[in-house]
Amino acid sequence: MRIVLVGPPGAGKGTQATRLAEKLRIPHISTGDLFRANISRQTELGKLAKSYMDAGNLVPDEVTIAMAKDRMEQPDAEGGFLLDGFPRNVSQAEALDELLQTEGIKLDAVLDLEAPEDEVVKRIAGRRVCRKDSAHVFHVTYSPPKQEGVCDACGGELYQRDDDSEETVRTRLEVYHTQTEPIIGYYRAQGLVVTISAMGPVDEVTGRALEALKSGK
Ligand code: AP5
Ligand code: ZN
Repeated sequence: MRIVLVGPPGAGKGTQATRLAEKLRIPHISTGDLFRANISRQTELGKLAKSYMDAGNLVPDEVTIAMAKDRMEQPDAEGGFLLDGFPRNVSQAEALDELLQTEGIKLDAVLDLEAPEDEVVKRIAGRRVCRKDSAHVFHVTYSPPKQEGVCDACGGELYQRDDDSEETVRTRLEVYHTQTEPIIGYYRAQGLVVTISAMGPVDEVTGRALEALKSGK
């Protein structure tokens, strides 16, 4: 399957993408994680991306599209993929369509995760991420690690993302409404959008997502 995951910052895209990718046996491709990996390796791309990410703005399309294309062309993505955080505006969606068309393939679904603003703000404020593996995500109240500051899965150090400050979150939400939400209309016109509520326990949301992907609504 080829799936795009969309939803406001903090809705639980990364949390759900890890689980869905495992169940559907497709790679989880997160442009946010790819940028963060570049930042920790201190690459040129990482240095460029950091200034935009810290401000809560989108990294320029040109470098983002090139990076996403490169990742989608890796052998493990041949049979399908779950895109998390890409596309993030209409021009990225158009670029993705062009790329898929060249390859003669199509998206199967765009899974839209809905969550109210006060909830996503709470989720982001309490999020802690593992330095060793960005798929290891915790929340100080909703899914606390057994030992404070230490990843249950690998013992890595848990940290708070630089862009999770209150001020940056406000900008990220605004960017989501003005630039990213329009892609839902873009994909709705292609009949691809399935919308689910991202509220409730993590496993329940995963079940809802799998059901929606199966039934197409
Ligand atoms: P990115 O990394 O994509 O961040 P985001 O979209 O803001 O999403 P988040 O990672 O904040 O949240 P999430 O929905 O994944 O939630 P999570 O599962 O962690 O992008 C970061 C930046 O990179 C962008 O601002 C931009 O600068 C740049 N960028 C990335 N892609 C780009 C692109 N295509 N173009 C240009 N720039 C790009 O969950 C959040 C918390 O809630 C966690 O603590 C989790 O434990 C908890 N939680 C999850 N589910 C539940 C639940 N059901 N109940 C209770 N708690 C829950
Ligand atoms: Zn870890």
